[in-house]
Amino acid sequence: MLNKKTVEDINVNGKKVLVRCDFNVPLNDKFEITDESRIEGALPTIKYLLKNNAKVILCSHLGRPKGEAKKEFSLAPVAKRLDEILDTKVIFAADDEVVGTNAKEATNNMENGEIVLLENTRYRKEEKKNGEEFAKELASLADIYVNDAFGTAHRAHASTEGITKFMDESVSGYLIQKEIRFLGNAVETPKRPFVAILGGAKVSDKIAVIENLLDKVDSILIGGGMAYTFLKAQGYTIGTSLVEEDRLDYALEMIEQAKVKNVNFVLPVDHIVGAEFSKDTEPIKTEDQNIKDGYMGLDIGPKTADLFKDIIKDAKTIIWNGPMGVFEFENFANGTISVASEMANTDAITIIGGGDSATAVNTLGFGDKMSHISTGGGASLVFLEGKELPGIMALDNK
Ligand code: 3PG
Repeated sequence: MLNKKTVEDINVNGKKVLVRCDFNVPLNDKFEITDESRIEGALPTIKYLLKNNAKVILCSHLGRPKGEAKKEFSLAPVAKRLDEILDTKVIFAADDEVVGTNAKEATNNMENGEIVLLENTRYRKEEKKNGEEFAKELASLADIYVNDAFGTAHRAHASTEGITKFMDESVSGYLIQKEIRFLGNAVETPKRPFVAILGGAKVSDKIAVIENLLDKVDSILIGGGMAYTFLKAQGYTIGTSLVEEDRLDYALEMIEQAKVKNVNFVLPVDHIVGAEFSKDTEPIKTEDQNIKDGYMGLDIGPKTADLFKDIIKDAKTIIWNGPMGVFEFENFANGTISVASEMANTDAITIIGGGDSATAVNTLGFGDKMSHISTGGGASLVFLEGKELPGIMALDNK
């Protein structure tokens, strides 16, 4: 379905191949990687290139160092981890200029089957500005460009988009192909019923997603902080819950649109509330949709969880993006756990958008029960908005 050339469409034997990965991994205060999904996601492409005698040069951003070389954003921990995982030694080109003396030296005399990892591309201001000079510098290191950074494919940066203008061959890696296959098939040719579960704090982050999905799904289940704006718009009381006053009209409009398009638009029918936004606040169950003064909704309630379960049970394709409540607080994690466990138990195609829902599913131990967990939070949302991803669009067509 992705009409872009892949690593299998070109000859990589003996060639220098620059692979843009998304190694933007979470680190703890000891600089240890706390979630390796993105590293694991990049391995099939790296292994394929090694097996086919390429000289593999990897690059990525990590965090948002704002164009400066800062130690806490170094890719050194990723180099160390890759070196442990792969049978091949990984040479880390520690270089504040990214493509400075060290990187040039490390990449100049590579043997077939060797790996060099460059330093954080965002050490250079030009990266985010999609600067031509930096794109050219990166391009000068290699014969072929492979983009496998699905998580960054929604950014038109020098290492994701600009570089393709200076390469003869720019193709996609296995991770990008896999992400587009799952997300694309789900959205374009879903097995029905097709259910989208949307949560997270803000309606404003999901407007374009809701609009796009209303034309495609059979049901949309809404949980998380964004639910209270929809409930308030319908006249329910929401206490001190999160609300976006400037989105109330929009919320009503979406509910109307859903009716017109025959989409089952399901909002919470009860909640777990607390007096404060704190892990220690006492969790209280509400009777119905209404929340009393002085309380805020922090999770969907048990009746809502059951309602969602029934719809999930009958679904054949499910996409989930955004937690149902403040799952980081134990007392308010049940709604998110319930959705995750019901999805884990169904035979439907289950797709988790990246970001918080991926973290929730993985930390709750349901990761291996899902058909696909996207490595891109922002990128999968942009994809679900029906928009093109510049990092993919720039690659060579088949
Ligand atoms: C992500 O974590 O979503 C990607 O790596 C992109 O990072 P960014 O939002 O800092 O561009």
